[in-house]
Amino acid sequence: MKTIVANWKMYIGIRESVALARGALLALRGRTVIPEVIVCPSFTALTEVRKTVARSHVALGAQDLFWEDAGAFTGEESARTLAEAGVTHVIVGHSERRRLFGETDEAVGKKAASALAHNLIPIICVGETAEERAAGRTEEVVTRQLSTALKGLTLRDKDRLYVAYEPVWAIGTGTPATPADAVAVHTVLRRLLKAPILYGGSVDSANAYGFLREPEIDGLLVGGASVKLQQFSDIVRAAGEAMEGAAVGSKKSDD
Ligand code: PGA
Repeated sequence: MKTIVANWKMYIGIRESVALARGALLALRGRTVIPEVIVCPSFTALTEVRKTVARSHVALGAQDLFWEDAGAFTGEESARTLAEAGVTHVIVGHSERRRLFGETDEAVGKKAASALAHNLIPIICVGETAEERAAGRTEEVVTRQLSTALKGLTLRDKDRLYVAYEPVWAIGTGTPATPADAVAVHTVLRRLLKAPILYGGSVDSANAYGFLREPEIDGLLVGGASVKLQQFSDIVRAAGEAMEGAAVGSKKSDD
């Protein structure tokens, strides 16, 4: 299976989110091999997008959550309320949350645990900065981020989450990692758990297939390109093609 997560960030409003969700449904129409598609609109667009994707192959994700169930936490949203809104997946520890809003590895762990307690699937993001990469610290940084986030989780929980490797220097810069670099880091993360691992950072319709055809890359977390209907549709199609290619490849090796 290949998974495409669309992180619409704070780029678009409710109407545009609904239109994009419709576009995702159209991109999947008529395909025999269907990738998993998870769209993550802003909180206020969740309810409308849910109506559009209900009973379809497109799942609904949120971009963040707070770990408490309820209480005096102005501006926050709980896993409990997200589940009530029909959300099934939630991004946690995105580098923008870490960098701009001071989110720590421990906070990411608490968020992941709270999501799982309410049957939401967390998509835990990790990734090194340009300085950390230049200092040869990529492996150490992503291992620390992920192992801290996993600390409070049970073995069963670890089967129910996704990881996204998103090098900070690649996010929104137009400079993605190479598929080979991504594969190398995925291999490091794979030692910590068996969950699907996605790549994110400047993915677009031109480079998506290059990542998706790698067996070590289970899918993509897409930001900027996922709010452009044509690009988003092409990336979803590329995921279907990569799955078809993998099926043909394994059939050939069976013959
Ligand atoms: P980008 O963002 O695709 O715009 O680089 C990826 C992300 O932040 O998840």
